[in-house]
Amino acid sequence: MAGVQRFSVSVEPELLREFDRYCHRHHFATRSEAIRQAIRELLTREAWETTGKTVVGTLTLVYDHHRGPLRDRLLEFQHQHADLIVSVLHVHLSHDLCLEVLVLRGEAGRLQRVASELRGMKGVHKGELVLAGVADDSGHHHQSE
Ligand code: NI
Repeated sequence: MAGVQRFSVSVEPELLREFDRYCHRHHFATRSEAIRQAIRELLTREAWETTGKTVVGTLTLVYDHHRGPLRDRLLEFQHQHADLIVSVLHVHLSHDLCLEVLVLRGEAGRLQRVASELRGMKGVHKGELVLAGVADDSGHHHQSE
């Protein structure tokens, strides 16, 4: 990791003890690791809530492909928003159920609306949107670490 910077934080002893227990439970090697992750999550969440920011996330869907016109509607909808969808993973879970993981990249507000519409379709058993991070518009994702 190039060019790290140290800073000190004042915190109540009880809060620090709780934080150390958290670090232990989640197997963080150091407090710094945990703090870095928390800061990234905070900034990602803020970007996610700010319209206009480009973000990346995944939408996991579990649905019954026998259920009416759902499969066609899902496909149609995905084609309409093809510019948002980076990749789709489809697994046939059982005779009835399909698992689909969509990697989405686009403007935060639009991405969330599209995810909600997909999740809300009749026959969808489960839909979970996970915000992965803020998109690096330069397209270089491996420089910083
Ligand atoms: Ni399937």
